[in-house]
Amino acid sequence: METDGFRLFPDAMTPQQQASMAQEVLTLVGLAPLYHPTTPGGRPMSVAMTNLGARGWMSDKNGYRYLTTHPVTGAPWPAMPDSLVHIWRRFGERSDSPDACLVNLYRAGARMSLHQDRDERDFSAPVVSVSLGDTALFRLGGLERRDPTRSFRLSSGDICVLSGRSRLAFHGVDRILSGSSQLIPGGGRLNLTLRLSA
Ligand code: SIN
Ligand code: MN
Repeated sequence: METDGFRLFPDAMTPQQQASMAQEVLTLVGLAPLYHPTTPGGRPMSVAMTNLGARGWMSDKNGYRYLTTHPVTGAPWPAMPDSLVHIWRRFGERSDSPDACLVNLYRAGARMSLHQDRDERDFSAPVVSVSLGDTALFRLGGLERRDPTRSFRLSSGDICVLSGRSRLAFHGVDRILSGSSQLIPGGGRLNLTLRLSA
């Protein structure tokens, strides 16, 4: 599926690749614990987050930004795994490396409201997103919040790319189909969003 720079690659990863990536990322998450950021308005997000790579996206009452250290532990984020650099290069059609991987964990009931990814410096670099575990009902809109949207499923092993005219498209996750996968211990969906932030 492709429209205006939005690309969906269903089943981009084999079950074995999904399992090893989930295990690798969850091991690193042990060093950079998941936490629930608050929105600039002060509400805790339902999605638990952490980051890998040189810079990590975060949100709190002071707004959205990238930080080089974990806001709770103060430690640098764990290094970006090579497996994710490979995905960035292949699916993002890049020869460089992403400096940020946002790790989103959706347990049952978590969702992400419609938003744009616009805290990065250079919008000519894509956003490459990996889905692992439970299926998500993903919503994709246009460049204005009021533009029409369509929704479709993102399943474990799917990779999608926001690039070109879709780089700043509004998007969000309406809900998770809880129990649709057994990949993530404790259940849920792991989403890995690769970006070049700086
Ligand atoms: C995000 O926009 O940060 C996450 C999207 C997703 O979970 O698929
Ligand atoms: Mn996003």
